[in-house]
Amino acid sequence: MSNDLSKFRESLAEPLYIGNVVLKSRVLQSPLSGVTDMVFRRLVRRYAPDSMLYTEMISATDLHHMKALPKLMEIDRHETPISIQLFDCRPDFLAEAAQKAVAEGADTVDINMGCPVNKITKKGGGSSLLRQPELAEQIVRAVVQAVDVPVTVKTRLGWDDAEITILDFAKRMEDGGAKMITVHGRTRSQGYTGKAAWEWIAKVKQALTIPVIANGDIFSVEAAIACLEQTGADGVMCSRGTLGYPFLVGEVDHFLKTGEYLPKPSPIECLQVAKEHLRGLWDYKGVRGIRQSRKHMTWYAKGFVGAAALRDRLCRIESLQDGLDCLDAAISQLDNLPSFVMLSPEDMSIPSL
Ligand SMILES: Cc1cc2nc3c(=O)[nH]c(=O)nc-3n(C[C@H](O)[C@H](O)[C@H](O)COP(=O)(O)O)c2cc1C
Repeated sequence: MSNDLSKFRESLAEPLYIGNVVLKSRVLQSPLSGVTDMVFRRLVRRYAPDSMLYTEMISATDLHHMKALPKLMEIDRHETPISIQLFDCRPDFLAEAAQKAVAEGADTVDINMGCPVNKITKKGGGSSLLRQPELAEQIVRAVVQAVDVPVTVKTRLGWDDAEITILDFAKRMEDGGAKMITVHGRTRSQGYTGKAAWEWIAKVKQALTIPVIANGDIFSVEAAIACLEQTGADGVMCSRGTLGYPFLVGEVDHFLKTGEYLPKPSPIECLQVAKEHLRGLWDYKGVRGIRQSRKHMTWYAKGFVGAAALRDRLCRIESLQDGLDCLDAAISQLDNLPSFVMLSPEDMSIPSL
């Protein structure tokens, strides 16, 4: 490793301060709706003990009307550091929801101002707040007043290419009292397509004093380092790169702390973790967990001979035993495979979302 990279890496081994919360890691696991439930977070946590993890986003309006706390908001006492992510457009409901989040044990409360999904933006939440910066600031102020943990914001560059408003928007969030901002380097209209524009994240970092976390296209340790170098951000948030790969946050964190790459898990190790994930979903959510597990299982099955055929089978599993049988059969096949067998392009490909 060059001296420059070494020095740069050492500076990132320092703790990250989010208001009064001190993080021993600058690598964060993103909130992912339909993914980052307690079962997934437990796996990520095993490999990344110091990283901030997030719940899936939760509607403050729904919370206001619910009597019982939804599963989405359940966190484990030992999960710290953990952030509960909320979305909505009503400052009063968000303030109330934030208080519930803190009562549940959230170390920070994050407000989603980046979700591009129509169902959310039509109701004024997620990335539609990028078009209502005054309301977004009002929301941050209301939530900051309501809770005594740091309030953070996760957002995008702007509505579309013609409306990249992040510099003004991010400043408003800071002025409103946000203690950290995560910027996904895409616009709302891009969804998840195209390349994340890290250069805009660099500009946000220059303009603010609160920590700025870079997000978008962090699929490897190398990408994380490149992003940190190019943006000067205070940390990185891994997202789609963790689907079927709960090792990524820990791999990046380990490199930042030691300058060394962790060995990659073998396909068999990945499938063993998939089995744990499947069992966990069954224990936590029953039959609904099995239905939800299908997408996770297909994400684990990539990059080895027979992966495409295994995915085809896993996306139809009906029960815990069915899934375990599929995975066990694939593991024993991999065990007996001569090393010269070639991967097909389908086995290499990353299954779509
Ligand atoms: C399936 C899926 C669910 C997501 N759910 C959320 C969410 O609940 N809250 C949020 O702030 N972002 C959510 N995101 C956005 C990611 O956190 C992240 O910002 C985005 O994927 C960009 O990072 P990447 O290019 O590394 O994937 C979601 C993305 C995906 C693909």
